[in-house]
Amino acid sequence: MKENSRIDVLITGGTGRLGSIVTRLLRTKGWECLSLDRKEFDVTDYDGMARIIEIFHPPLIIHTGGYTDVDGAERDWRQAMAVNFVGTENLARICQNEGCELLYLSTDYVFDGEKESPYYEEDEPNPINLYGWSKLGGEYAILSRLKHYYIIRTSFLFGARGDFIDRILTGIKSGRLSFVPGNFAAPTYYPDLAKAIVELITTRRYGIYHLSNQGFCSRYRFATAVLNRLGIDVEIIPMPPPRDMAPRPHYSVLSSSRWQKSGLKPLRFWQDALHHYLTDFH
Ligand SMILES: NC(=O)c1ccc[n+]([C@@H]2O[C@H](COP(=O)([O-])OP(=O)(O)OC[C@H]3O[C@@H](n4cnc5c(N)ncnc54)[C@H](OP(=O)(O)O)[C@@H]3O)[C@@H](O)[C@H]2O)c1
Repeated sequence: MKENSRIDVLITGGTGRLGSIVTRLLRTKGWECLSLDRKEFDVTDYDGMARIIEIFHPPLIIHTGGYTDVDGAERDWRQAMAVNFVGTENLARICQNEGCELLYLSTDYVFDGEKESPYYEEDEPNPINLYGWSKLGGEYAILSRLKHYYIIRTSFLFGARGDFIDRILTGIKSGRLSFVPGNFAAPTYYPDLAKAIVELITTRRYGIYHLSNQGFCSRYRFATAVLNRLGIDVEIIPMPPPRDMAPRPHYSVLSSSRWQKSGLKPLRFWQDALHHYLTDFH
């Protein structure tokens, strides 16, 4: 990308699962994207980022990059905080100085899962793992500095390499699958989320949104749906959580009602998205 090129949007985590899908989609729609990976645009490096922003002046940054290993964050919490909290704060400071809009991806894991009915944007966050705290820190950093921001809390993403479906298919090779029961959430298809992001950024309706595909299920039910669709007969065994596994909210279903009330298109049911993905790509 030449230094004097016009840029419509800068995407962090450009080689990540969501980042690469969002980049591809925006480019097909004619957006000039500067999509950068961690080496090119490390959110823990304030000065390095500031230099790039000063050169390209993107009016919008879509921040899909992040420390995303939920279990790893319990051991490696300094890195999780450095990337998700301090890194997002760095970006928010730069956006404040340069007048850019910022879109940040957050998570259902900001909630403790005690509510047992869908979570609204107004519900009080109370993470029960360090990944959740680090992502919530990123939200607070944005709220305290910016007016022109979008925060999308989403959940249980599937439909790209290395996702839960890939882990199921790898597990099958050992002849049996085991899952910790519970963890009810709304599965969300990466390409559906990417489309929704593209829709949102043209509205200038700033704020926090909960967004997932419609419906919800446990990881166990999701795995069963995948196996049924693929015609694979393997026993799924419930197992206790391994000792090094981060605690997860028992129930973290997000209500997308604010999204819909804002006139934005609801995502389809997760079963339809899963069917589409497995039919097209497996
Ligand atoms: N996956 C889910 O189920 C889920 C659910 C809710 C919310 N989210 C959020 O959605 C976003 C996208 O998730 P995803 O599934 O696409 O994650 P992903 O595939 O793990 O991608 C994350 C990207 O962030 C990059 N990254 C890591 N450290 C960075 C740093 N210091 N500076 C800049 N980039 C850095 C990674 O680069 P390297 O590969 O080089 O490390 C990777 O390309 C994340 O913010 C995540 O927290 C995900």
